[in-house]
Amino acid sequence: MSLVFIAPNRDLSAWKRALEQIDPNLEIEIWPDIENKNRVHFCVCWNQPKHLLDSFPNLKAVSSLGAGVDHLLTDDSLPDSVDICRVVSPSLVQQMKEYILGAILNIQRNFIRCFQQKNKKIWQTHDHSSASHWNVGIMGLGELGRPVAEQLAQVGYQVSGWSRSKKALTNVRSYAGSDELDSFLNNTQILVCLLPLTTETEGILALDIFKKLKHPAWVINVARGEHLVNEDLIYALDSSILQGAWLDVFSKEPLPNQHPFWNRDNIMITPHIASVTEPDEVAQQIVDNYKRALSGMPLNYAVDREKEY
Ligand SMILES: NC(=O)c1ccc[n+]([C@@H]2O[C@H](COP(=O)([O-])OP(=O)(O)OC[C@H]3O[C@@H](n4cnc5c(N)ncnc54)[C@H](OP(=O)(O)O)[C@@H]3O)[C@@H](O)[C@H]2O)c1
Repeated sequence: MSLVFIAPNRDLSAWKRALEQIDPNLEIEIWPDIENKNRVHFCVCWNQPKHLLDSFPNLKAVSSLGAGVDHLLTDDSLPDSVDICRVVSPSLVQQMKEYILGAILNIQRNFIRCFQQKNKKIWQTHDHSSASHWNVGIMGLGELGRPVAEQLAQVGYQVSGWSRSKKALTNVRSYAGSDELDSFLNNTQILVCLLPLTTETEGILALDIFKKLKHPAWVINVARGEHLVNEDLIYALDSSILQGAWLDVFSKEPLPNQHPFWNRDNIMITPHIASVTEPDEVAQQIVDNYKRALSGMPLNYAVDREKEY
């Protein structure tokens, strides 16, 4: 029986080592070097080729290498009978908290403008208002969104969150469902997207949403590039509906050289680094789920195919 990692263009040696440290008897293979496809029972995937998963006749379960599972749910070669799970870890949460707080501080304290001025040797001050004057709205209050929201509230921002079901969080106002989306947006100045990519959420960061935000408004997208309608973002920036955007994810990664986002001072770009899975931290989860899949037990951090996350 073997466990296979499938993640093209990624060095997976640290992953293999981390799993072997937990159980030296595991048979671990790294695609495309697979000896016998019949022996593959569990795959751990990131951006796997979309024609592969139905070539393992005894596949029982697949795990995402990260928090998102859209690459698995959109893979037509994944048989319906195969269970799906993902990884959840404290360091993914910690990194996301750091990233979002960093982005918001840069926006709130005008650091972005100061860095741009520095390049031209300009000494100019800008007024800023304190955290308590800024309304931050988090779309998605899941494993990442909840702690991000609570940390921002602790720092002093006015924080609200939007999810499918209502939440009870410390100092975070909770909005739920499409009925409460407008109230959430009307109360938000910095909109942070931490939604999973699903049929319902694809293209959600669009002009009609931007128009409902409190001004001056910013959008931070750390979820998936496909949440954002790129041409709507540019239109919203050019017509001052939005003041700026901070993006970590893009519908095509790496962002192509000729992409219009690169040349804009009001779009901050980071190369999908907000929160990265650390092999040592999630190896035990993967081994546990491998054993659960082999023994027919329900997986930890299982994905609901109906809900798409
Ligand atoms: N940029 C990076 O480096 C990076 C790193 C990690 C993750 N991510 C992205 O972050 C996403 C979120 O991760 P997570 O672990 O926090 O996800 P999660 O635990 O699955 O939480 C998803 C949240 O979104 C809400 N939601 C889903 N569909 C919705 C809808 N139609 N309307 C309103 N709310 C909806 C859910 O509501 P309920 O609570 O009511 O179910 C839940 O609160 C991942 O899917 C991934 O794409 C990016």
